[in-house]
Amino acid sequence: MDSLLEARNLQVHFRGPNKEILKAAEGVSFEARKGETLGIVGESGCGKSVCCMSILKLLPSPPAIYAGGEMIFDGRFDILKLNKKSLQELRGGRIGMIFQEPMAALNPAYTIGQQMREAIQLHLPATKAEAREMSCDLLAKARVPDVSRVLDSYSFSLSGGMRQRVMIAMALSCQPDLLVADEPTTALDATIQSQIIDLISSIQEETGMSVILVTHDLSLVSETADSMLVMYAGFACESAPANEISEHPLHPYTKGLVESRPSSRVTASRLPVIPGSVPSLASKPPGCPFHPRCAYAKAICASQFPPETAYGNRKVSCWLYAGEGSS
Ligand SMILES: Nc1ncnc2c1ncn2[C@@H]1O[C@H](COP(=O)(O)OP(=O)(O)O)[C@@H](O)[C@H]1O
Ligand SMILES: [Mg+2]
Repeated sequence: MDSLLEARNLQVHFRGPNKEILKAAEGVSFEARKGETLGIVGESGCGKSVCCMSILKLLPSPPAIYAGGEMIFDGRFDILKLNKKSLQELRGGRIGMIFQEPMAALNPAYTIGQQMREAIQLHLPATKAEAREMSCDLLAKARVPDVSRVLDSYSFSLSGGMRQRVMIAMALSCQPDLLVADEPTTALDATIQSQIIDLISSIQEETGMSVILVTHDLSLVSETADSMLVMYAGFACESAPANEISEHPLHPYTKGLVESRPSSRVTASRLPVIPGSVPSLASKPPGCPFHPRCAYAKAICASQFPPETAYGNRKVSCWLYAGEGSS
């Protein structure tokens, strides 16, 4: 399967209050293949949104510094090197994005219909009536009931789940090759969460688009995603086909995440949790950022950043596996 988007060794920094460099993405690599779903998983603050925003170079710079790496789209160009005009064409053109809190992305002063029309007319020479018709189709695709009523509504009068469906419809308006969904269901309750995830996968089946689905909840993506990236404190712990991550996690952090999944809680006599919490960027320890919480940590883990080891189509960054890989 061909690669649609490939982040190679992405490095994104911020400046701390004392001008120190805060590494929010420390050499992160991932790949969204055509027609497939990549799940990005990790606890809050680990750099998932920084990576997503970097896909379209959306982080304002300053404060963000794109310090290194590449974001190769369609095997043809590096998004991080594009000028403003080309970036704008790509945004909402070939790449659509949806976020955790749709309320922030919708304008409360305009109806859903007005906002959808604007999004459509930005990319297509459509009349007002044509844009409304297209909006109806898009909302129907996002399984929005009572489409005309929703088009004439304001965002605040819709439920959270309905707002997220509207966002999905708007993101689809440009027929994107890639949909980036950054925690699209975190603000929603559990039943609506799975409906939205199911909706994204069924639209993906219809359109053949690629999806990057970000979540802090491993169980939410493990069944939907084809491949997964597990992040911790700005670095990529492990990437692999989704079923391998769930069935044979390699990195100690991934093992902790898998054991903490709700599905394994049912059989576990005691809930396994990873002790400690994610360090802030300013207090990131030297060596492997995970070593203070790792049950397998060795002396080297406290002083040197772990190298990446490849095992066929999997990659793991951990001293436990250094020097063992195959390719
Ligand atoms: N504008 C910013 N200035 C400074 N630090 C930031 C900024 N945006 C994000 N960060 C830091 O980058 C890290 C990763 O954040 P984020 O990508 O939002 O995490 P996640 O999406 O995984 O919850 C966090 O430590 C956060 O505080
Ligand atoms: Mg986030």
